[in-house]
Order: sequence, then C-alpha cells, then structure tokens
Amino acid sequence: ALVSATEMLKKAREGKYAIGAFNTNNLEWTKAILKGAQESNSPVMIQTSMGAAKYMGGYQLCVHLVEDLIESMGITVPVALHLDHGEYEDALKCIELGYTSVMYDGSHHPFDKNLEEAKDVVAKAHAKGVSVECEVGSIGGEEDGIIGSGELADPAECKQMSDTGIDFLAAGIGNIHGSYPENWTGLSFDTLKAIADVTDGKPLVLHGGSGIPLEQVQKAISLGVSKINVNTECQEVFAAATRKYIEEGKDLEGKGFDPRKLLEPGTTAVTELVKQRIEWFGSKGKA
Ligand code: G3H
Ligand code: ZN
Repeated sequence: ALVSATEMLKKAREGKYAIGAFNTNNLEWTKAILKGAQESNSPVMIQTSMGAAKYMGGYQLCVHLVEDLIESMGITVPVALHLDHGEYEDALKCIELGYTSVMYDGSHHPFDKNLEEAKDVVAKAHAKGVSVECEVGSIGGEEDGIIGSGELADPAECKQMSDTGIDFLAAGIGNIHGSYPENWTGLSFDTLKAIADVTDGKPLVLHGGSGIPLEQVQKAISLGVSKINVNTECQEVFAAATRKYIEEGKDLEGKGFDPRKLLEPGTTAVTELVKQRIEWFGSKGKA
C-alpha cells in the first residue's frame, strides 16, 4: 500500500541521504520507477505534475494505477504518491482521492497568501495522514508550463513556512527546472545553510535535480536536502533509447513496432537511471 512521505524523509534527513522523487507520465514510467526502487531496495516517491496527471487520465486513475502496480509487481519498498507543484485546489483534490503526499506550490503568490493556503492544506492533509511540501523562493526555468523566476529563498520566510507544520520544504537555492545553462553558477550553499539553520531539522527538497553534478548533490544532502526531484533526465534517457531503437530499424524487424517492444528500451533506460540516482542519493538498501 502507499505510504506518506513523512517517515521516509525524516529517516533520510537523520541518516544523511535523500529520497528520489521521480516524475511519471504513463504506465511504462510508473513501472520503470517502481522496478528501479525495488531492485535498489530503496524507498521512493512517484510524483505527477498537474499536467501529467491530466494526461494520464486524472488523479484517481493515478492512485489506482500506482496502488495496483505495487500489488501486481510485488513491490515491498515504501512508495509515496506525491502531487508535484500543485495549485491549492489540486492539492485538496489529491488529498481526497488518495495521494499520500502533496506539494502545494504557492510560490507565485504573495508570501502571505502562500502561507495562509499552506496552513489550510496542512490541516486537511494531516487529518488524512498525507504529507505536505511547500515552496518558498522560486525554482528557475520551466516545467510543464510552470515558470519560475529563480529568486533565492529568504531564510526568514522559510522559517515561517516551516513553522506552519509542513513536512518538508522546497526552497529556491539557485536550482533550475530542465537542463542547466552553460553559465549556471551552481547551487547557493550559503542560502541552503542559512535555511537549514532556521528550520529545525525539517527535511529540505531540491527541485531541478537533473544535471546537478554529483559533488553538489552530495554537499546539498550533507546540508539537509532529503528529497531530490528528477524529471528531465528521465525524459532524456527515454527519448534517446527510443530514438536508437527506431534509428537501428528495430521497429521494422519482426513485430518491432508492437508498442510493448517499441517502448521497452526507453522504459529500461528509465529504470537504469532511477537505480543510478538512488545510488547517488544514498538511499539504496534503506527500505
Ligand atoms: O518538480 C520536479 C523537478 O523539480 C524536476 O526537475 O526536470 O530539472 O529534473 P528536473
Ligand atoms: Zn520542481
């Protein structure tokens, strides 16, 4: 059965490792992520953006899909189903429908409104044992239509947000959605340190996990990051493996156009990436 992310992230924060939160888009990706986590004996978070959930057929379908796959695939590691970058209404809907974790992302609102709505989401989520992530500052770049300014989080605001009772906090520390530009100056560890200093051991979330060099990932974990979001890199390896299959003409051999065969190399590539990131993040064997 699905679990909330509170426990797994608390343990990760204490044990100085991070849980991978991988975005899914469909049946194949969901299977790929679950398989990677199971083979690594690691807890995992599967997350849907609002757009991906809509694409897949709605929030309820996502809940049923993940629950049924856990059963049919014999998955024994802890799995949380999380809403990524949710609007207020979507967060409430997911809490109702069986997501075990939600991100209410009010970072584009004035801070007062972000804080007020966060409090409300926390009350409703905790009544159902659902964990809550909120965001302060802004993640740069664009993801699924969500565009961020990249503004560094203010530690004083992080403290206020943390004190609302949220379970984990996403903060802008120079991280960017999508691939990182050539002239990227890296994560702001000063900002991360200042945030960790005032948030009382609250697990911190690193968005834009694709393309951050390993040393920076490890340093971020040592300073309190306990959840790392990975989306773009999974898309890249899926596309590359699928392209290779087609360019080699495999879709033309035998029944290579059968979707079960056509989508297989990409799906395997996602599993391999998930396993590799789980090693990077240090959660291998922590189930
Ligand atoms: O919310 C999702 C993530 O922050 C993913 O970022 O696409 O850069 O891996 P990414
Ligand atoms: Zn994000």
